[in-house]
Amino acid sequence: MLIKDTVAIVTGANRGLGKCFVDALIARGVARVYAGARDPGSLTPLLEAHGDRVQPLRLDVTSDADARTAAEHAGDATLLINNAGVLESLGVMEAGGLEPLRREMEVNLYGTARMALAFAPVLAANGGGAILNILSAASLVAFPPFGSYSATKAAAMSLTHSLRYELQAQNTMVHGLYAGFIDTGMVEYVDAEKVSPRDIVTAALDGIEANVVDIDADERTKAVRLALRDDPEGLIRSSWQRADDFRKVYPANSSD
Ligand SMILES: NC(=O)c1ccc[n+]([C@@H]2O[C@H](COP(=O)([O-])OP(=O)(O)OC[C@H]3O[C@@H](n4cnc5c(N)ncnc54)[C@H](OP(=O)(O)O)[C@@H]3O)[C@@H](O)[C@H]2O)c1
Repeated sequence: MLIKDTVAIVTGANRGLGKCFVDALIARGVARVYAGARDPGSLTPLLEAHGDRVQPLRLDVTSDADARTAAEHAGDATLLINNAGVLESLGVMEAGGLEPLRREMEVNLYGTARMALAFAPVLAANGGGAILNILSAASLVAFPPFGSYSATKAAAMSLTHSLRYELQAQNTMVHGLYAGFIDTGMVEYVDAEKVSPRDIVTAALDGIEANVVDIDADERTKAVRLALRDDPEGLIRSSWQRADDFRKVYPANSSD
């Protein structure tokens, strides 16, 4: 699909990758972006930068009521970007209970599903359109220090593949975006090579325009995808090695 003249909705639009999506969508000539945020006040810089081409929406993706209201307000949407996400930086055993995993699932998996359910009829009414789900290299291979997050992103990848099948009948293309570390607040404390959010967003929007369904946005993800095909056992070993290296710098239960 061409980005120009689409009407997009972006979740978690107030900062990080989401904010970058809004800027890039406007630069590519969308008609309008509905910018979702838990606190609409945090959208002020976007509204100041882009005027009424950005429409603020109060949107917590864990809320059925918010998702429904968003779909009523954004009835002309043709592109849904499921960007909102959380990372609690915990291994599953390290967490010592299910709560961090549950909180991450509620946003990263159920939030994505909730928005797809709310917006599928809107997209169908507007000709089909597209959904972009922001996944991760951790969808492809678990990074154990982020074990609960990895599980949610693997589940969200599976959901993406099923939605792609289910929504083809209404002509909605469902894309997944995969990336390693991106330079945003989510991994601010991690001292590692990170790709700029602007580069990731460019790859995402180029991928949508080129009808690429699974968009590998950086070199790290491309390497993981190749290893998954050519040497899956080696990929797991190297992810454990990366986990060991990470734990030398950031021991368990310490995220700063
Ligand atoms: N950074 C990375 O290394 C990386 C790598 C691969 C994939 N990703 C994915 O990229 C996406 C964007 O993350 P980011 O790097 O931009 O992280 P970020 O800077 O931490 O931003 C996360 C965004 O999600 C929003 N959010 C969290 N919970 C929400 C909820 N319940 N309802 C609505 N919005 C909610 C946050 O809003 P508040 O301001 O209200 O908290 C914020 O706008 C996520 O899906 C993440 O998993 C990130």
